[in-house]
Amino acid sequence: MRLCFATNNLHKLYEVQQLVGNSFKILSLSEIGHQGDIPEDFETMDENSMQKAQFIKDQYGIDCFADDSGLEVAALNGAPGVYSARYAGPQRNSRDNNLKLIKEMTGVTDRFARFRAAISLIIDQKAQQFEGIVEGHIIEEMRGSDGFGYDPLFTPKGYDVTFAEMSAEEKNKISHRGLAVQKLVDYLNLHGT
Ligand code: IMP
Repeated sequence: MRLCFATNNLHKLYEVQQLVGNSFKILSLSEIGHQGDIPEDFETMDENSMQKAQFIKDQYGIDCFADDSGLEVAALNGAPGVYSARYAGPQRNSRDNNLKLIKEMTGVTDRFARFRAAISLIIDQKAQQFEGIVEGHIIEEMRGSDGFGYDPLFTPKGYDVTFAEMSAEEKNKISHRGLAVQKLVDYLNLHGT
């Protein structure tokens, strides 16, 4: 069965294909003939991921899933949240975003934060959503060089290391995206057999 993953991130696509196995062929946006960005106009990750999946389903008629994710910091009332990629401005630069977060958190004692990922799937005319959350803390200075985004500032609960100090494999086992993808894969494997 063929299923499109509405993302331009080929690393994510490969990761999901590995997890799903042979019963589904996961197609990239370019494989279905789509170029460019997909609209993300909403204020929540659930709505944005659903909008992206629905956009591809409407345009190309193919069953599809999409994801949206971000960091929610308790002391900042859930910011940067849905604006995680462009927290420090439209240049969408991770270093700028991290420096802004360090500044906003200076002197703040409540360091609790969580990453959240939402995946929306449209299959056989039905919509499904899957969520993954990882809780942790924001540290005061960046540590580690692996990963991306806010990884150097985030230590998951129960760990002393940041996401940027973990291997990709270690991070995937506990990360918000890893957990949401696992739920998607469990659902697809039930439907693919
Ligand atoms: P997207 O859903 O992949 O577009 O992610 C939105 C933004 O959230 C990214 O640009 C990052 O700033 C942040 N983000 C999402 N997931 C992670 C993660 O696993 N580590 C670090 N930052 C992340």
